[in-house]
Amino acid sequence: MKNPIEPLELSAPLARRLAPQLCRKDPATGENCAWCHGLWQYLRLMRLAATPGHQVDFYRRAFQSVTGGNGAPRVLVSGAADYSMLALALAIHRERGLEPVITVVDECDTPLFLNRWYAERASASVECSRSDILEYASATPFDVVCTHSFLVQFSPDERIRLLAKWRELLRPGGTVITVTRVRAAAGTERVRFSPEQAQAFRATVLRQAEAMRALLQVDPDELAQEADIYMSRQRPWPVRSREEVQQLFEDCGFRVDELSDAPRAAAAGERPEGPAVPGSGERVQVIATRL
Ligand SMILES: C[S@@+](CC[C@H](N)C(=O)[O-])C[C@H]1O[C@@H](n2cnc3c(N)ncnc32)[C@H](O)[C@@H]1O
Repeated sequence: MKNPIEPLELSAPLARRLAPQLCRKDPATGENCAWCHGLWQYLRLMRLAATPGHQVDFYRRAFQSVTGGNGAPRVLVSGAADYSMLALALAIHRERGLEPVITVVDECDTPLFLNRWYAERASASVECSRSDILEYASATPFDVVCTHSFLVQFSPDERIRLLAKWRELLRPGGTVITVTRVRAAAGTERVRFSPEQAQAFRATVLRQAEAMRALLQVDPDELAQEADIYMSRQRPWPVRSREEVQQLFEDCGFRVDELSDAPRAAAAGERPEGPAVPGSGERVQVIATRL
């Protein structure tokens, strides 16, 4: 299956303009997350952001094993930088003649705005809920929780709470579908772009933004400055091995049905390395059943 059509060139300027107003302020630091949500879709246009669309075949296979009570599954998108997971879930189900019932939960209003915007264009009815997923509750259980690069948003201790929450939100027999990066060489602290990676990433942003100037319609220097801020704040918690993923799910009441290596995103010229960069590092694909 091809990637679903995502009108990034229309929504990227919306996200960049609205993120400073809509993005959630971290109560501890007072900073908001516009550094990520405002730039993310431009990074995607420049092929510098890892999204579910890089593992289409996996998500397609995984969703095919999911069933809902009356045929249309209840799907929870747990954290989404934009509408890419929604677009993929909709396209895969519609291909099978199913209209899934989708809820998107994120703690920030900017991705929820983008999900509503996409849902309207796709004539889909999607519920969007602003909540820390750890606090989120639903009266009706879900058939599937899907997400991408979400485990690394949580420290190892918080991850146990996240899995307990997903378990609570799923019906028995329900499924978690996710992709996560694994970093064998990482320590226990959050990871960040190294100075060399940051330099290469910045140079690529400048080069791509110049080459795509007509499409992006943003000054390449401005995007490079925003990329500097993005790189200084993009600090995921490492997941260090497949075994760690397996253990986490099993300890939290899931059976792991698939734990496979994600194919590397196809190289498009020179690509830098670093957190959330497609094609950088190893990623694993996980399908797990709630026991
Ligand atoms: C899903 S992840 C990584 C992005 C992913 N590669 C994608 O394409 O969607 C990032 C999202 O998780 C959200 N997030 C982080 N921690 C969260 C939490 N505790 N509860 C809800 N959303 C959270 C952030 O606001 C962000 O939009």
